[in-house]
Amino acid sequence: MITASAPGKILLFGEHAVVYDKLGIAAAIDKRIGVSAYKGGTAVELQQPFHFPTLRKTQDEIEELHAQFRLLFEQKQFDKIKELGFHNAIYVMLGEIFSKHGYSNIIARAHLSHTLKGIGASASLFSALSAATLKVLGVEATLKEISDFSYIGDVVAHGGTPSGIDNSIATFGGFLSFRKSEGPKPLKLDLNAKIIVVDTGEKSSTAELVSNVRNLREKEPERVNKIMDEIDSISNEALVKIKNRDIVALGNLMDRNHTLLKSLGCGLSTERIEKIVSIAKENGAYGAKLSGAGGGGICIALTDNPKKILDSLKNAGFYCFETNLGAHGVSIDETGF
Ligand code: MEV
Repeated sequence: MITASAPGKILLFGEHAVVYDKLGIAAAIDKRIGVSAYKGGTAVELQQPFHFPTLRKTQDEIEELHAQFRLLFEQKQFDKIKELGFHNAIYVMLGEIFSKHGYSNIIARAHLSHTLKGIGASASLFSALSAATLKVLGVEATLKEISDFSYIGDVVAHGGTPSGIDNSIATFGGFLSFRKSEGPKPLKLDLNAKIIVVDTGEKSSTAELVSNVRNLREKEPERVNKIMDEIDSISNEALVKIKNRDIVALGNLMDRNHTLLKSLGCGLSTERIEKIVSIAKENGAYGAKLSGAGGGGICIALTDNPKKILDSLKNAGFYCFETNLGAHGVSIDETGF
């Protein structure tokens, strides 16, 4: 049995804009998804946590789905790719691995720490599952290969056009700046402050939100491109502030990034997100914003007094925690990568 794990992530800056080749900044957090896998059974079976049903597909089913995906991808039929849904995303990724490295029946079990529930850690699952599967197949994969396979999962999970930031941070870990045309670049980040992660309690669909923004951009290219450019400058400024360890300025940039995302509409912000942001700010956060696709999911707040903000958010009924940033990327438990 092989066990692999990958970290969850937060996006400090640049979500959605990264899809359009703008700069994003991401950090791995100290909560992980684990996947145990071994050769066996009569199909590829994935046992999911939290009473979700066990998924099962035969070689023929996986090959058919993978071929269907490849065709849709070549034809740039993103809305049809979006309709495939999350469970098929897992099998499309496995289909991609099998098409390169040969098929095997596999039984895999995902372990999700409770603290990761609701955090939308799909790329972490893809990264841990692809690392475990490749190892079971006897392939000595590089991190780049694992990240590339996870990207295929995110193509489906993000509705056809992922940036690649999520699979990169889940696989490489640490801190990254990321531009689609340049790929991930490791970043040094040593802030004298803490990040609080807050679960909105609202389930959001990254595929839906990314496609909402894509459709809006087609309708209102000038307005949307201007917002994306502004987010790009914020991320660039943030790199300088990170280097200078200027927490106050970073907080302001987070606030500005949030306001710009909200101004896109498309359901990116919600009442609960706004409530979280206000509570965090009223209780002294340097900055607060949605993190990831929005529409629910999670928010983050930057502070040097986590207790006050955590207490207020908990009193208001939100599940939240302080997190250490910069966790290591995907790893195989026995040997590591
Ligand atoms: C989701 O975590 C990040 C988005 O920018 C989508 C992507 O980059 O693929 C919303």
